[in-house]
Amino acid sequence: MTAFESPQQPFLSDVKTLRDRARKSLEYGAVTDTYGGDPEKAVEILQSVLATELVCVLRYTQHSIVATGISSQSVKNEFAEHAREEHEHAQWVAERITQLGGVPDFNPDTLTARSASQFAAGVDLVDMIKENLIAERIAVAHYQELIRYFGDNDPTTRFLLERILAVEEDHADEMHDLLVAHEGKPMLSG
Ligand SMILES: [Fe+2]
Ligand SMILES: [Fe+2]
Repeated sequence: MTAFESPQQPFLSDVKTLRDRARKSLEYGAVTDTYGGDPEKAVEILQSVLATELVCVLRYTQHSIVATGISSQSVKNEFAEHAREEHEHAQWVAERITQLGGVPDFNPDTLTARSASQFAAGVDLVDMIKENLIAERIAVAHYQELIRYFGDNDPTTRFLLERILAVEEDHADEMHDLLVAHEGKPMLSG
């Protein structure tokens, strides 16, 4: 009996049991017996997160290049910075899909159908900022839901999404500040 067990209730698996289990299921990679979720469902959900992030990379990259107008350079730099961060998120999510036994889907043919956010080019600088703010708010709402879904069943995926969510909230905040700076009023005030 280990320090973690009592006759009434084995609390934590002892090291030997954990090692035996890990050895018996090497083909499952990072997914062990203690994984509380459904790995296939988790992969399916993360494919949509990956697509969402990839669409964000494309939208911000396009905006960072085509944005024009007075004081557009600082906005372009911000779009470019966001594009880099969205790319980083896509990589993290793709790696998690691989850990869960899936194959990350980068197929451009079906990208927008799998994504929660849309690709919108935007006709001018203010329009671009608005499109990005909308996309960020969609991502924030979507990821908050997913964090609740993963809960304690898959803390690794939940933690990954929490990390990404914090950045998306910053992005939304920055887009909102830009909108106020360029339009003089907050978008959501009507
Ligand atoms: Fe992102
Ligand atoms: Fe973002």
